[in-house]
Amino acid sequence: MRKLIIALAASFLCLNAAAGVKVVPQPLEVKESRWSAKLPSEITIDARKHTELAQTYIDLSSAILGNAGITLSKGGCCAKVKFCISKRVKGQDAYVLKVRGSKVRIKAASEDGLWAGLQTLTQLLVQGLDKNVTIKDKARFRYRGAMLDCGRHFWEVEDVKKFIDMMAVHKLNVFHWHLTEDQGWRIEIKKYPLLTEVGSIRNGGYMTNYEVGAKVDTYVDEPYGGFYTQEDIKEIVAYATAHHILVIPEIEIPGHSVAALASYPWLGCTGGPYEVRKEWGISQDVLCIGKETTLQFCLDVLEEVCELFPGPYVHIGGDEAPRTRWAECPHCQALKEKEGLKTEAELQSWITSKVEDFLAERGKSIIGWDEILEGGVRQSAVVMDWLGKEGGQKAAAAGNDVIMVNKHYCYFDCYQTEDRSQELCAHRRNIPLSKVWEFDPVSGMDEAAQAHVLGIQCNTWTEHLSDFDRVYFMNLPRMSALCEIAWSTTERCPYQEFLQRMEGTMIPLYKAAGWNFAEFYKADFE
Ligand code: ACM
Ligand code: ZN
Repeated sequence: MRKLIIALAASFLCLNAAAGVKVVPQPLEVKESRWSAKLPSEITIDARKHTELAQTYIDLSSAILGNAGITLSKGGCCAKVKFCISKRVKGQDAYVLKVRGSKVRIKAASEDGLWAGLQTLTQLLVQGLDKNVTIKDKARFRYRGAMLDCGRHFWEVEDVKKFIDMMAVHKLNVFHWHLTEDQGWRIEIKKYPLLTEVGSIRNGGYMTNYEVGAKVDTYVDEPYGGFYTQEDIKEIVAYATAHHILVIPEIEIPGHSVAALASYPWLGCTGGPYEVRKEWGISQDVLCIGKETTLQFCLDVLEEVCELFPGPYVHIGGDEAPRTRWAECPHCQALKEKEGLKTEAELQSWITSKVEDFLAERGKSIIGWDEILEGGVRQSAVVMDWLGKEGGQKAAAAGNDVIMVNKHYCYFDCYQTEDRSQELCAHRRNIPLSKVWEFDPVSGMDEAAQAHVLGIQCNTWTEHLSDFDRVYFMNLPRMSALCEIAWSTTERCPYQEFLQRMEGTMIPLYKAAGWNFAEFYKADFE
């Protein structure tokens, strides 16, 4: 009888989240009470134990909630928002958040969980929560990434921090930093100063064309460039870490390396001359694998990279490296012969394994794009599937960890509508919000293979983006759909329900933050 009364009371008091409180990504459990919440407009956060967490949250959220009339500050024992670490809260980045009257309590097994709970709190505050609520949640994937291409266009430190802020509110936790490209080398390497003196500047290139419906961008015949000093890198890594985001640097080996070749022409098979590339697309000129000096260069660069990035992964690129130069190069052919390699693809695998050994000695694993599979790869390498051609499925089935970044769903440089007439020039595919929503990262995988899916990621390639407002616009609101797939452990709800939730919480958040977002999703409402 007592159980029945409790069950009836619970069903009376608890409403489904869809009806009231709206959170993206959808939490595992939302129980809304009929009792009123009375969250004040001046929110104090307990900073006694988790001081940095509290301060980072206040800084991030003040910039958003301040515009909604809510202020945040540090408090002590009487603070409105209090935290507690409890090992009884189980699951990846799991947390329990309770709002009772004017008080908020967040419990989690780790600071990562507290941080996730705080991001949910921002959503409750921005939508003007009026009922007590209990939210229990945990993440589906441990890798929830976003990549920013800083090669095609260079983003100032402040812009990179904005990208990290945007990731944080979406509960994304891995920043993949694309730092080297044909069109610009962006990371200071002390041993090779020409990489930035020469390789960070191109002699012209394409900038965003602001004419709506334009099919090409605007060529600007002026030098363009920029790079991150090692101090800048440390600053960004510290900033990301404070926002509970791991930074993974990407150093492209052996393709997308023309900026390095322009700096040190001996790195190429022909010896040049080369110039930092002004056009987009794929260059035939890549690192010459046959010369010992090339491997030494890669290891020297990675030595400095390892010092700067404390995380367990280094992304070594590996995509789109044509093999034509190697086929004609006496150095590459001599190495092939000496090592008994049968194909040029195996030459790439040879340098990949050397780099992998070097990083393993420093406690790090490699991540590489699909193409690292072509000449064979060790099981220890993590494969980033961008082609969406079963590379990820096959690698996972073979026991490699994988990250699913299918270019048909996760490439946020692509158009957002079928009818592109209302858009600025973008990358050639259409990936509207509804398409992102359809992404199933474990499709075609059995349970054993699924266990190797570390997570998913969205990519912001920047051929068509030369100001940060466009970066926001291309990511928002698509990042809302991506983060729900990355995070939610619940059954995927209907798209219309997701749209309602997103409109109820993320759109007001973007507005309060002053982040540029695309409104094309409005046409999707039925
Ligand atoms: C890629 O888009 N080339 C990884
Ligand atoms: Zn060569």
